[in-house]
Amino acid sequence: MQMELLQRLAEAPGIPGREEKVSEIVKEALEGHVDEIRTDVLGNVIAQKSGGGDAPRVKVMIAAHMDEIGFFITHIDEKTGFLRIDPVGGFDPRVLIAQRVVVHSDSGDYVGVMGTKPVHVLKEEEKKKAPEIEDIFIDLGISADAVKEKVRVGDSVTLKQDLVEFGELVSCKALDDRVGIYVMIEALRKVRGHEADIYLVATTQEEVGIRGARVSSFGIAPDIGIAVDVTVACDIPGVEEPRRVTRLGEGVAIKVKDSLSISNPHLVRKLKEIAEEKGIKYQMEVLPRGGTDAGALQLTREGAAAATISIPTRYIHSVVESAHKKDIEAAIDLLAGFLEVAHQGKYTL
Ligand code: CO
Ligand code: ZN
Repeated sequence: MQMELLQRLAEAPGIPGREEKVSEIVKEALEGHVDEIRTDVLGNVIAQKSGGGDAPRVKVMIAAHMDEIGFFITHIDEKTGFLRIDPVGGFDPRVLIAQRVVVHSDSGDYVGVMGTKPVHVLKEEEKKKAPEIEDIFIDLGISADAVKEKVRVGDSVTLKQDLVEFGELVSCKALDDRVGIYVMIEALRKVRGHEADIYLVATTQEEVGIRGARVSSFGIAPDIGIAVDVTVACDIPGVEEPRRVTRLGEGVAIKVKDSLSISNPHLVRKLKEIAEEKGIKYQMEVLPRGGTDAGALQLTREGAAAATISIPTRYIHSVVESAHKKDIEAAIDLLAGFLEVAHQGKYTL
């Protein structure tokens, strides 16, 4: 695995609507591997690689999102300089307290911490209660005057976390969905011949309602759309066997449904066939809640055949999101395998 590229992608900051640092890395990584790269008005990076077949060509759009969950600053305390925040994306406040953060301002980037009251001063009832976003504040370690000079309401905040490899896993913040971006890039580099016209789209604002995928898919008008995203792996203590969704190390997941899309059954069958032919380890995924860019791909214009290739991930939407290296590799192999034969399938129901 090209751990360096995944590390750069995952550690880069980029909340919804502020994905430009991630898009720089994406453009650099795709340079020389595609015919054309452009960025649209919502920040989507759209890379195109034409196929070699006879017209009319099949258009395949692959989407993985660049944004990560984070915050906007809502308030700066006059006297103390402590910052209050508004979340963008679904946060569990229990995993937020005691984290390091970076505030991104026009004047620069500032490291801070999300502070909490020490246990020594907590009242009995406070100890029992889970924290709420409104209780959380950011401490930049400088005076109120210095904060007011450097930071403005509306500046963005990301969680700070380095990528680590431990055991067979890789862990960082924002593996959702930088690992999907990584898979998409590596798959394109791996593809040999392909007849379909391939559009790789690093989308924006997925975490606030698949917004980037909606406009980019409208522009491209794909016949086939594949989202590459993480999915829940609940193979952890305290979760019963039937509720685990996926398991780490059991291979790439082929999604059947989530709350935003039901994958095209011919596409699902095709992906399974490719995996079986090539000996790629895979598992089937039915996700009760959650969604991916496939929700937008499926409903674009008059509709497209859509599916999601998922990377099973533990502890999603926390700073210790963890995925299995072999599952990531399986996702790359499956996507590359699909791109090579995408033009052959009939996906109309
Ligand atoms: Co997410
Ligand atoms: Zn995601």
